Amino acid sequence: MPSGPGGRLFDYPLNSPVGIAAGPLLNSKWIEAYAKLGYDILTYATVRSVERQAYSLPNVRPVENREQSAIATKRPAVNGNATIAVSTGMPSMEPDVWRKDVRRAKDKIGRGQVLIVSVVGTSDIAAEAEALVADYTLCAVWASEAGADIIEVNLAVPNPFGDAGQMVYESIALSAQILYRVRSSVKVPVIAKMGAFRTPRHLHETATKLAPWAHGFELVHGIHRRVVDEDGNPAFEGAGRDFAYVVGADTFPACARQVEEMLAWRKAGAWDRAILAVGGITTAERAQHLLREGANAALVATVALFDPLFASRFRQLAHAAAVSAS
Ligand SMILES: Cc1cc2nc3c(=O)[nH]c(=O)nc-3n(C[C@H](O)[C@H](O)[C@H](O)COP(=O)(O)O)c2cc1C
Repeated sequence: MPSGPGGRLFDYPLNSPVGIAAGPLLNSKWIEAYAKLGYDILTYATVRSVERQAYSLPNVRPVENREQSAIATKRPAVNGNATIAVSTGMPSMEPDVWRKDVRRAKDKIGRGQVLIVSVVGTSDIAAEAEALVADYTLCAVWASEAGADIIEVNLAVPNPFGDAGQMVYESIALSAQILYRVRSSVKVPVIAKMGAFRTPRHLHETATKLAPWAHGFELVHGIHRRVVDEDGNPAFEGAGRDFAYVVGADTFPACARQVEEMLAWRKAGAWDRAILAVGGITTAERAQHLLREGANAALVATVALFDPLFASRFRQLAHAAAVSAS
């Protein structure tokens, strides 16, 4: 394993600024394995205050992006250039189980590595906004008590109190309430995870208004799209699954554009929060590009599934760049 180029996230020194976003690392065994493969920012997949089963399989399908929708194909991804649709329902273990397991995960990571725990409020047990805020906060407190170095608040989920199709991060008022409560209830840094914005104006306004309540922003969670099979039928079986998150290689241009917007906005001096880039980073060059632009970290999900040695490839590239610069 080539040594990492170093890095820093909040007050934590890092071997490298590359890691895994919420999703692929389902428990402490996965965290341990990917930590050994040279990923230095490890995100424990989103946990809830209640146990939740995953949707029926398949819950991940390779897709081609077309104008109206994403088309699920039978062909597997080639050359690690994968674009997939994800519809998992965000399962969670029972809180007693994940709280113990987060502690194990923390013990398994090494020096120069950090553990993020992603948390979400469960809307169907929260009849009012206040209950949803409290549920997010409960998960955050449990995760931080269990040893999380950083709490990631997953705001890229449907807003049960908003118009149809609205996500929580698209409601500045609700997001601010959640972040404010989480931030004042834990001592570790708090990151807001957000999805794609409809316009640069929305992105600017949201980041400016949420900056006082978050230590960092992570985007882009994925592109929420209708996913159908080649005959036009829903690609995932079951109610409420006609829309899914499209993630991976094809989403990079759109995601990188939003990350770059954020970076430009931060450079303009509006606020100075950490920016963690995610979305379509499937090559070491893409990670390097966004880090050079100023992102504090580059996180991957899809490529971690198809090419677990990605972190090692990134380290090689960073090493070669450092040698040629010296
Ligand atoms: C199999 C899988 C499961 C995921 N589960 C979660 C999750 O539980 N919580 C979450 O915030 N994001 C989840 N994501 C989204 C990723 O964290 C990430 O935002 C997205 O995949 C974009 O990165 P990528 O293009 O590198 O895959 C998941 C992604 C994948 C591929």
